[in-house]
Formats: sequence, structure tokens, C-alpha cells
Amino acid sequence: MTDRKLLVTAALPYANGHIHLGHLVEYIQTDIWVRFQKMRGNQCLFVCADDTHGTAIMIRARQEGRPESELIADMQAAHQRDFAGFGVAFDHYGSTNSSENFDLCKEIWQSLRAADLIAERDVEQLFDPVAGTFLADRFVKGTCPICKADDQYGDNCSKCSATYAPTDLIDPVSTLSGATPVTKSASHLFVQLEKQHAFLEEWTQSGKHLQSEVANYLKGHFLGNPLRDWDVSRPAPYFGFEIPDSPNNFWYVWFDAPIGYIASTWQWCKQNHESLADWWRSDNTEIHHFIGKDITYFHTLFWPGVLKAAGYSLPQFVHIHGFLTVNGEKMSKRGGTQFQASTYLKHLDPAYLRYYYASKLGPRLDDIDMNLSEFINKIDSDLVGKVINLASRTARFAEPLGLSVEYPHDGGLFDAGAAVGERIAQAYEQLDYSRAMRLIMELADQANAFVENSAPWTLKKDPNQQIRLQEVCTIVLNLFRQLCVYLAPVLPRLAQQCGQLLQLEICHWNDSQTPLVGTAVSKFEHLLQRIAPEKVQAMIEDSKEIQPTTTEIAVTPQIGTTADSGDALLQEPLVPTCTIDDFTKVDMRVARIIKAEEVPEAKKLVKLTVSLGGENTRTLFAGIKAAYTLDQLQGRLVVIVANLQPRQMKFGLSEGMVTAVGPGGTEVFLLGIDSGAVPGQRVH
Ligand code: 2FM
Ligand code: ZN
Repeated sequence: MTDRKLLVTAALPYANGHIHLGHLVEYIQTDIWVRFQKMRGNQCLFVCADDTHGTAIMIRARQEGRPESELIADMQAAHQRDFAGFGVAFDHYGSTNSSENFDLCKEIWQSLRAADLIAERDVEQLFDPVAGTFLADRFVKGTCPICKADDQYGDNCSKCSATYAPTDLIDPVSTLSGATPVTKSASHLFVQLEKQHAFLEEWTQSGKHLQSEVANYLKGHFLGNPLRDWDVSRPAPYFGFEIPDSPNNFWYVWFDAPIGYIASTWQWCKQNHESLADWWRSDNTEIHHFIGKDITYFHTLFWPGVLKAAGYSLPQFVHIHGFLTVNGEKMSKRGGTQFQASTYLKHLDPAYLRYYYASKLGPRLDDIDMNLSEFINKIDSDLVGKVINLASRTARFAEPLGLSVEYPHDGGLFDAGAAVGERIAQAYEQLDYSRAMRLIMELADQANAFVENSAPWTLKKDPNQQIRLQEVCTIVLNLFRQLCVYLAPVLPRLAQQCGQLLQLEICHWNDSQTPLVGTAVSKFEHLLQRIAPEKVQAMIEDSKEIQPTTTEIAVTPQIGTTADSGDALLQEPLVPTCTIDDFTKVDMRVARIIKAEEVPEAKKLVKLTVSLGGENTRTLFAGIKAAYTLDQLQGRLVVIVANLQPRQMKFGLSEGMVTAVGPGGTEVFLLGIDSGAVPGQRVH
């Protein structure tokens, strides 16, 4: 078999947020595959980069009052720290905001122009009149025009994966200001993907490059119709690359992001004196992308279309995985289950998560569930109870003896383990890690049965049994080492520790095929601890977000949030203690609603005129339209924050805030007051 040359990528994490355990499913999955390939002797280059452009970064930098370059540099450093903490070992980690990426975008753009794939036309885009910027993709939320799921972003739907323009959303809302966006016209550039329909049909349906369910999904959802033109430009202001032949227009972040795969490879090539063409324009290199199912469309239609037109190699395979749920639920910041990578690392060993994910991951797109009890049990019973146990029950006895000079008779255990190696390798190759882990644990069970039957702790006590003790230890430590070789892609540190213990590094898959004999055994160092459940609990506590106790309605209407069930205090923990002085800074007053009116342009807002007594009236906007009719509001008493800084909204000035509880939508409950209270009275 000739060694393969592989280029592997994981999706470029967006520079707008930190890595959490959901992201790590993919990076750990990919890292395991890369390590496996390297152990098999294949040449394998693993590249990634931060995805740095777009409106989200621009707005965040504005909010933080610093240049985008500073923001993305900090975020990249944090991402790389987190990846390193989990043993995700990229060969190169770049940035889409690099000169290499700009040069490649320019070159690819010229190819698309030359292939007559670019069209120009005016488009109406949503514009936030309060924030003063066009609103792209992630800054608009609304109802999916295809499946009608609510609370979807402006570029694609997390429920049905459809992609669309933000203007297609039903009832859009700006997530920047809560304002209802207006449409404005600007000139945009498009890739006419339909011109590549025949090619994409052939490539996606060949059975060679995609999981079958992905190919079927594309056929069923997209390829049956003409492919939509893909809008790849955004007018200024935008953080990204300005399009050289279209001043004041910038490439949309999703145009330059995947080109970042090539740019990162190029940076590596420059540092290693290699030619980019050998990796991206050669039939000898297999390109493997690993992504989550939410970005299927971009990687299986747009990206192959761009690569084909620009004369680059097509991916050999796009491997797509599902999402992570925690205890059967979507991860939630409020529930304390959106665990940041750095929070996890403060409390727990990364090896636990690597093994746990491996034991759950299969080759399909199913979501994987992180059940925290199962997580604890699996590590205890599999890793500590079955694998580490082999070394901890024999290594200390073996240290003064070393390994036997000849491998003793073990009833065929080592050879049987060696024979399973190819099946385990096949499972890794096919990304069926859960099968690989099962096969490995079956071997571990057999090895443990041998330890039990051989009872080295009894042999140790009998001076006449020292040769047998050495034989038993030799067998058990070799079985342990065989397991460490098989587990090395998942648990590289354990493989390294095993190498130190037996004084020979584990490098290659074939190290599983021949037993070690006649070598010294090092002093036994602790390999892996059991998980202390209180550490998992500490991670949960550390991950809980402190929530405000009042719902700020007038200024930032809650958008499409669904009610959480269960104990409200747990969902929304108390904010830290404040002094009475802090409290008195907030001037809350009883007010009577004297007029409640529709705001025709705003889906969620009503306009309230409230009286604080006498001639003293104010106007407020409150996101309570779904919860109350105008009649229910008219005349009732409410409690308002009267000294909140007035805020200019698109519909008028909001001079305060109505207090309420609840997550939003129809689940909003205004604070009432017992009869006898009069408008203008202060809350003490
Ligand atoms: O979905 C995301 O988070 C994107 N940043 C992934 C980009 S992958 C590639 F295309 F660059
Ligand atoms: Zn949808």
C-alpha cells in the first residue's frame, strides 16, 4: 500500500466568540482522524484558521471601542490556547485576515469573472436605522421563509438548513437595536451557481464525496430546482477585503472564509518550503473537510463550485457531523450547559472529553448527547477501570524486574489483539469511533480477565513465583501497550505516558503488532484519575450566566425566546448583592397607562403613554404586543423605571421602561400594584 497524502481541515471558528464544548465535537473528531492517519504512516497536513471578517466583528469592535485587528488577534490567541488545551494539534493555524487570503481571493475572483460566473445587480438589503448599518445574516432574526421556524438568522435556518437572503425572513428584527429594519438598495455581486448545476449534480451524487444522507438532502432540497445566485458582496461599512474591481464593496465573509483553508495551507507551505500546487492542484492529494451540519450548503455546493471554476482540487470528502446536546437538551447558557472550553479545562482533564466524544461519535450526522452521568461513568469504568487498571496493577511489580526476555505464552491474547487492529483501523478510517472504542474495550475486558486470573499481587508475595510474576507483568503491560497504541489517536498523552513507562515511544500503528521484551520498566507515575463528580458540578456552576432580575422591555425587546420550564430562580440566578444606595439610584414609579397604541412597523412593540400624575406624562415603547391586547393595557397601573436614560428608537423617544417578568413573546407579565397606589408614587 502506498502512503496517502492528505490535507485535512476543520471549520474555521468565527472570531466573534469563544470555543465551547459544542465546537469541540468537530475539532476532537478531526484531530483523532489526523492523528490516526499520521500513525498509519500517511502524510497528513491539518490546517485551520480563525474566520475573522463580517459585520459581527465590526460591530463588536465598535462596541468595545478598539480596532478589529486587536479584537481578532485576542480571539485567535484564545482559540489557539483552547485547542492546545484539548490536544487539538494543527500543523498550521492561520487567519482569514491575511495577505495570502487576500491574494487568493483576488485570484479566485478573477477566475470566476473569466468564467463569466459573476453578475451584478441592485439588491434591497435590510438596514438598521438605529445602528446606522446594513444588516447582514447574523444580525437579523425572524421566521424562516421555508419551514416557518421562528428565531432564525438571516442567512440560513438551523431547523431546515435552507439558505436565503435576510430580506426573505418573515417579520425580521435587528438584533443590534431591536428595531424593525428598513430596506435600502445597493449594488451587489453574485456568483451564478446555476451555471454549474450539471457539475454539482454529478459531484454531489457520485457517491464518493459525501455521506449518503447529505447527497440525498442536497438532491431533495436544492438540486431539483435552479440554484440561486449567491450574493458574495456587501457594501461599506464592512470589515473584510475590499473587492479590487468594485470599490466600496467587500467580499462577504462566507466568500473569503473557505478560501482561508487554502491560505492557511499556503502559509504552511511558505514556512516549510513546499509548493501550494502540490496540495491544492494535485491529484495526489486528498482534501478532507470536516464540518457541522449547519454549514452543509456552503461546503457542498458553493465551495465545490468555486474550486471547480478556479481550477483547484475538489474535496475528496466533506465529512459532516451533528450537534452536541447536553443531558438531552440544546446547550443553554442559562441552564449552565454551554460549557466554554476554558471553563472545562479549569476543572477537568481533556482526555476525559476526547474519550467520551470518541465513544459517542459515529459516521453519520446524528446529534450526540453529552449525558453528564454517563460521562462520569464511562471514564471510570472504561478508561480507569479497564485500561489504566492494567498498568496500575502490574507496573510497580514490574519495575524491579523489567520485561521478560522472551514474550511468554499468553494463551493467544496478544496475537488476537493484534489481529483486531485492522478492524479498529477501519473503524477510525470510516469515522466510526464508537465502534473503534467498543472493539478496544472488548480487548481490555479480555486483558482484565487475565489479570484477575493471574493475580500478580499474590505472586508478588511468593519468592518462588518471581519469574511467573515477571511473565504475567510482561503480558499485561504488553496488552496495556497494545491498547495504548489503538487509543493513541484519541488519548495521545496516555500513549506518551505508556512510552515513558516502557521506555519506548509509541509512534506507529504497527507498534501494536509486536510485543516488547527485555526492556526496563520505569517508575510508575499516575496516568489518569477518576472523575470527581464535584468537579463536573463545579464546571456547571462556573458556566452559569448571571441574569438580570428585571426584563428590560422597552429598550431591547426579547426576540423569539421560548419559555424555560422548571424553577425560575435556577434559570435566572440572583445577581450579586447591591447596597441600598445602589437600589435608590433606580427610580421606579407607579404609572397609569392612559393610551396604548399599535406601532405598525414593529411586530413586538406597543406605544404606551403613561401618566405619573397630573400633567406629567411620558411615552414608552414596550415589547409586550404578543402578551397583551391594547384594551387590557388601557387604564391599568404599571411600575416603570422613570429615570432610565431616554432612548431614541425608530418610532420615537422611549422615556423609561415598563417592568415585567418573563422571557418574552406571549410570556411577559407586567408588574402590577395593589389598589390604593396612585401614579407618581415611588417604589421603596
Ligand atoms: O460557521 C462558522 O462558524 C464559520 N466560521 C465556519 C467557516 S468554515 C470555512 F468555510 F471557513
Ligand atoms: Zn427553516
